[in-house]
Amino acid sequence: MKNFKRTTVTTALPYANGPIHIGHLAGVYVPADIYVRYLRLKDEDVLFIGGSDEHGVPITLTARKEGVTPQDIVDRYHNIIKESFETFGISFDIYSRTTSSTHRVLASEIFKTIHDKGGFIEKTSEQYYDEKAQQFLADRYITGKCPHCGNERAYGDQCESCGTSLSPDDLINPQSTISGSVPVKRETKHWYLPLDQHEAWLRQWILEEHKEWKPNVYGQCKSWLDMGLQPRAVSRDLDWGIPVPVKGAEGKVLYVWFDAPIGYISNTKELLPNDWEKWWKDEDTRLLHFIGKDNIVFHCIVFPAMLKAEGSYILPDNVPANEFLNLEGDKISTSRNWAVWLHEYLQEFPDKQDVLRYVLTANAPETKDNDFTWKDFQARNNNELVAIYGNFINRALVLTHKYFEGKVPEMGALTDYDKQTLDEFKNVKAEVENLLDHFKFREAQKEAMNLARIGNKYLADTEPWKLAKTDMNRVGTILNLSLQIAANLAIAFEPFLPFSSKKLRDLLNLESFDWNKLGRIDLLKIGLQLKKPELLFEKIEDDVIEMQIQKLLDTKKSNQLTTWKPEAIKENISFDEFMKMDIRVGTVLDCQKVPKADKLLQFRIDDGLKGRTILSGIAEYYPNPADLIGKQVLFIANFPPRKLRGIDSEGMILSAENPDGSLTVVQSGVPLSNGSKVV
Ligand code: 2FM
Ligand code: ZN
Repeated sequence: MKNFKRTTVTTALPYANGPIHIGHLAGVYVPADIYVRYLRLKDEDVLFIGGSDEHGVPITLTARKEGVTPQDIVDRYHNIIKESFETFGISFDIYSRTTSSTHRVLASEIFKTIHDKGGFIEKTSEQYYDEKAQQFLADRYITGKCPHCGNERAYGDQCESCGTSLSPDDLINPQSTISGSVPVKRETKHWYLPLDQHEAWLRQWILEEHKEWKPNVYGQCKSWLDMGLQPRAVSRDLDWGIPVPVKGAEGKVLYVWFDAPIGYISNTKELLPNDWEKWWKDEDTRLLHFIGKDNIVFHCIVFPAMLKAEGSYILPDNVPANEFLNLEGDKISTSRNWAVWLHEYLQEFPDKQDVLRYVLTANAPETKDNDFTWKDFQARNNNELVAIYGNFINRALVLTHKYFEGKVPEMGALTDYDKQTLDEFKNVKAEVENLLDHFKFREAQKEAMNLARIGNKYLADTEPWKLAKTDMNRVGTILNLSLQIAANLAIAFEPFLPFSSKKLRDLLNLESFDWNKLGRIDLLKIGLQLKKPELLFEKIEDDVIEMQIQKLLDTKKSNQLTTWKPEAIKENISFDEFMKMDIRVGTVLDCQKVPKADKLLQFRIDDGLKGRTILSGIAEYYPNPADLIGKQVLFIANFPPRKLRGIDSEGMILSAENPDGSLTVVQSGVPLSNGSKVV
């Protein structure tokens, strides 16, 4: 690898159209933060750039729905996102936004430069126009019937019912969502980046010169290139965005995917107004984009083509994109509220940033989609962070306080076993480095945890507490070595678990905090006073996890309710057929579970006559059957009697089916006479 002088690390700018969730964190921000912290610990020159992506159609849709301006929406979410990143310890050097004036100016300048160099082509095409609202319609602003599944409210870019990608021309009976009118086709001019003209150098640059890119990234680029690149529009007819800065472009703005990646550069410029260029224009700078897999084409093909067309910028050296994280087996979805939101996590689990960081890295979707479950979250906290890392640190500190008044004891002669332990843990630095250099964060963290395992095993095997009466020198050596391992752990875990590392560093009064010292056993000087032991991690109890699971179940239930549609109506029946059914009103006199039958409830009904017993298979929906006593229900009185579990059932109680498939007994809303007929 080339020897670079500095590294610019960017993370995908999240849309300021909703808060951050664990999928964003696992895919982009946690790995990028680990990498940057690692470089900083190695004393390398690194800049970590983040910010909000504040343009684009979805933001205008949210604003319209809420009856506020797009600026209101992005102000709200930018602040939530920025604050939650800060609290979570994502250590950006700057987190700015694409509505900043620096960005507006720079994005316009870059467009202008490419334009003046002849780097765009202009094309006129027909697009849908709303004559009532007097505006062109973005694909999302058009709805109509899906030609595939018949859903009447499919969007011009996708049918959310069957998931098919659509174009507005596919829709049957298209309608404008703005005015409700039928849109017409109108000619409009746009600027296009002729990616086809960039194909040759892109092929050479990616497919030949960057074979080291992750297989998922390289593979996606290859298939785009093999399909052949087409010109891509870089402007839109919209009133939210950065105006296209050339003549004849009134009412047009830069396409959000044109301006967003420029945000990386403008945020650098905002941070370092006089010194930003070396981070973007010097061949000795290594540029890295951390993104999710849905952004690969924009960062590996479109943005590099823009930069090349502009002419003065460097290209990314690597784009370590991740796959997606699912939640409890389902795709994370903002619109379905199927997510663990960062700002909520930070409120519900205060001071537990590192637990989430640990779990997300342990399950990082590096090579394939992965799953987050609350049970796994609990298990990794309790069985790994608490039982291995926390336990080792606590034991080393408690024993030092017990036998040496909390002062680092002297190290005597090392036994063969000590040396063997040292050999094992000395390799950690090289291993972790190699893994981090190759963006293998999961394995790197595992390796760091291995250090804690080695420490735990060392204490368990040497049993210093048993030697305290006979050989305090040996106890001192064991504890010194254990404390040195603890100090190594504080350094090794800093990129992954910065909050715990800081705590541990304080407990150990560790001054030197340098990656290059990893593996050494002189990090803590003899006689150094340590602080009173404090737990690094706490056990997470079942009820806490059950609450989170219940929260998700509630979301699922309310989603089912909102998407639920009644079943299609059955074939017609004749009046005579209806008249054959004798439906009556009755009051429940008694209701209880039938012993040894999971599903059956036994009702005693006052039917205005001599009373009757009816069995109904709804016990699972009524944990407290007595709640039904006194209620008036409807039953089919001439249903043929039948014997169930030795009990005669004389009729059928009417129940209605809920969206989740459960059943509820239909009750009369007004007092009626028992035995009256339903007609
Ligand atoms: O996919 C997204 O969430 C985009 N907002 C990412 C933009 S990345 C960069 F180009 F700014
Ligand atoms: Zn459909």
